[in-house]
Amino acid sequence: MNIRCETSIDYPAIAQVNTLAFGQDNEAKLIDKIRHSNRYIPELSLVAEIESTIIGYILFSYIDLVDEQTLQVLGLAPLAIHPQFQRQGIGSALIKAGLEIAEAKKEAIVVVLGHPEFYTRFGFQPSIIYGIESPFPVPKEFFMVKTLQSYQERYKAKVVYPPAFDGV
Ligand SMILES: CC(C)(COP(=O)(O)OP(=O)(O)OC[C@H]1O[C@@H](n2cnc3c(N)ncnc32)[C@H](O)[C@@H]1OP(=O)(O)O)[C@@H](O)C(=O)NCCC(=O)NCCS
Repeated sequence: MNIRCETSIDYPAIAQVNTLAFGQDNEAKLIDKIRHSNRYIPELSLVAEIESTIIGYILFSYIDLVDEQTLQVLGLAPLAIHPQFQRQGIGSALIKAGLEIAEAKKEAIVVVLGHPEFYTRFGFQPSIIYGIESPFPVPKEFFMVKTLQSYQERYKAKVVYPPAFDGV
């Protein structure tokens, strides 16, 4: 299994993996909207492939932390593994690869809405511990952040997702 950045040739295969993994095309549409926005980060749009076939995908893009000032942090969404390749460590490998790149880029925080039993394995914790508020009424353990080395306490604020996320 190889992990690398996406290229435009990969777009249809990425859409297909997401549609199969989620059973709907909302995430594929979200990815497309993010790519066309100023929140897209090419080096944090990663595919996992086996013998040149894409079987997994992860995207980190910029979202806002809004208080008196607005700070940009990373939002992790979506993460999708082809149904036939789930529970084989590919999702975990994509998360770890992305977090390493985020550290190297000196990003401060990664925000995710997802399964706590999965994401806590990578050091994600409920955002509320850091005074970071979810924009959605979800149980607090599902809205998580992973702080990176550049994290500082001033990142206490409410998360605001950019328009690309409307309707997801
Ligand atoms: C969730 C997902 C990304 C995990 O990727 P993966 O490659 O299957 O995961 P890994 O093999 O690295 O890790 C396995 C762990 O993932 C979690 N997991 C996998 N599938 C899961 C599911 N359907 N529901 C809940 N947790 C799941 C479990 O914690 C599992 O641990 P276990 O095998 O010890 O029980 C993948 O299963 C997927 O694409 N699911 C459908 C789309 C989705 O829900 N995306 C995540 C949005 S937060």
